[in-house]
This record gives sequence, C-alpha cells and structure tokens, in this order.
Amino acid sequence: ISTEKENGDLLSKSFQDIISTLPKGNPWGFPDHFLQYHGFWHSSVFLQGILSAQQQFQAQPADIILCSAPKTGTTWLKSLTYATITRTSYDDSTSPLLSKMPHDVVPFMELDHAHFSTHRDLGIPVLATHMPYSALPKSVTDSGCKIVYICRDPKDSFVSLYLFVSKYQKSENMQTFNLDEAFEQFCQGVCWYGPYWDHVLEFWKASLEHPDKILFLKYEEMSDDTILYVKRLAEFIGCPFSSEEEEKGVPEKIVKMCSFENLSNLEVNKNGKHRVRGMENANYFRKGKVGDWENWLTPEMAARLDQITMQKLSGSGLTL
Ligand code: A3P
Repeated sequence: ISTEKENGDLLSKSFQDIISTLPKGNPWGFPDHFLQYHGFWHSSVFLQGILSAQQQFQAQPADIILCSAPKTGTTWLKSLTYATITRTSYDDSTSPLLSKMPHDVVPFMELDHAHFSTHRDLGIPVLATHMPYSALPKSVTDSGCKIVYICRDPKDSFVSLYLFVSKYQKSENMQTFNLDEAFEQFCQGVCWYGPYWDHVLEFWKASLEHPDKILFLKYEEMSDDTILYVKRLAEFIGCPFSSEEEEKGVPEKIVKMCSFENLSNLEVNKNGKHRVRGMENANYFRKGKVGDWENWLTPEMAARLDQITMQKLSGSGLTL
C-alpha cells in the first residue's frame, strides 16, 4: 500500500510539473482551465487519469477497448457490448444491465484505472476510454487488442455535451455556461477531449490501417439498423451469433434491452447516481435521437459546424 501511495505522490508531483507548462483553454464555467496536451484539450482530472493509464494500464490481447469522444453514444455502446459478451451467462431478464448503470459494468480507463492497475480484475475484458487514439496506452496498440470506436454528427454531439454540462452545473448550483460561448469553444476545439474532429479522424485513419483491429461505428447508422450493427459488433469482438441464436432472436432481444426506451426507464437509470462526483444516471439518457440539434442550434450555427466538418474531413473519405 505504501508503495502505491508513494507512486501516487510521485505521479501528482510530476503531474503538477507537467500541467504548469501546458496551454490553458476556456473552462466552460468550471474553476479549472482546460489543458492542451499533445494537441487535445483535457480537464485536469481526466488528464491525470490519462497519464496514469498510460503508465500503468497493461492491455492483454483479448481486451476490447470501447473508444469515443464524449456524448457520442458511449453508454449505448457499453450496454450493447456488455450484453453481447455476457449473453451466455445472462438474458434480458437477468442481465446486470437491468440493475446497474452501463458505466458501472464497463470501467472507464481514465477514472477507474486505480481499481485495476495493480490487481487487474475487469470481470469481462471490456473497458472504455475517451482518449484520442494517439494517447492510448502503448500496451493497447502493441497488444493488438480490439478497439471499437463510435462517433456522431458533431451538431448532435455538441448539443448533447452542452446540455449534459448545463444539467450538471445546475445540479451543483453553479452558473450554467452560455450556449453561444460553449458553441464558440467547441468550434475552436476547446472541450473535453477536443478538437472533436481530430479525435474522430485519428480513429478513422487508424481503422483504415488496421480494419481487423478497429471497428469504426457511427451513431446514426447504428440508430438506423441496430440489429445489423450488433451482429457486426459480435463478429468483430469474436463472439458471432450462431444461427440457432439468430433463430431464437437473441440479437433482437439484446437490441431491445439496450434501447434508449428500455434503459432510460429502468429505476437505476431514472433515479440512481453515478460514481463520478454523484452525477445523476438520468443525465446520460436525454433523448437518444438523431437530429435533435435542430431544436437547439440556429441554421447559422449548424452551417458553421457543417463547414468545419467538411474542411476537417476533406480528403479523408469520412463523412459525418
Ligand atoms: P442525447 O443527449 O442527444 O440524447 P454518451 O453515452 O457518449 O455520454 O452519449 C450520450 C448520448 O447518447 C445522449 O444523447 C443519450 O441520450 C444517448 N443515449 C444514451 N443511451 C442510449 C441508448 N441506449 N440508445 C441510443 N442513444 C442513447
């Protein structure tokens, strides 16, 4: 224990040294500025988590790492992956997903790493991270473990992020950050794990280079035909549905159990609190729709985001 504490103290000392040199960005109404580290903006809490994970996390070849920028469908991807991987142990009436929040069954590398850094016990070999591809612990890329990435139309991601943050700020009796200012910061790339487009592009390029190791998903396509993508996911992570399972409708049952309607109406997700600073679970289930940005952004704001998206993604072969 004392060695762990000493390591922790060392880490926080070197962390203080590191952060004092980093560029600072608008903190969206929070007390601590965003810090720019290797091209991406991070809150200091998450940056500390990234650095510890980089130092400590030992990936194994059988691991599955779920990657995403915030508010792009992480919770949904976690639940689908978890339900798919545990389907021989649980069904849609016994799954831990009925009583636990998806974030509590799939650990988050930046915040939960302390729990598995020394005594690796993930239960199932699945964990999630918001880290950019270039920041992933070296063992993740070296071990050849599988990565699943999900992204989303930046207009919906921004709206989801802004409303998530505002709700949290209200619950903490903080002044909420202004929508126009948040929009400006998002366009400039200053937000959790931003610039959003760079995050997506890194994984997109890596998925083209290593299609057998990285599955690249879009929220919109998954909403369109979730069953198709769950089958693809199952195949990619090495547990394809058998024809018997297909006949029994197992993929359909998983999709139904993990649907927004079902998860958002569970007691745990309506009234429970998440381990991170008492965040309400309900905050992770807002609307779950494609195109809700229309209710929040002016046509000018939407055009500006589309323009940035076009510029940034130009020549990549990716559209969002
Ligand atoms: P909205 O704010 O647009 O509703 P993340 O999980 O990465 O934090 O992303 C949150 C977004 O995913 C929110 O989008 C949330 O409502 C949506 N979401 C959560 N669970 C979902 C599910 N089971 N199916 C579809 N979307 C879901």
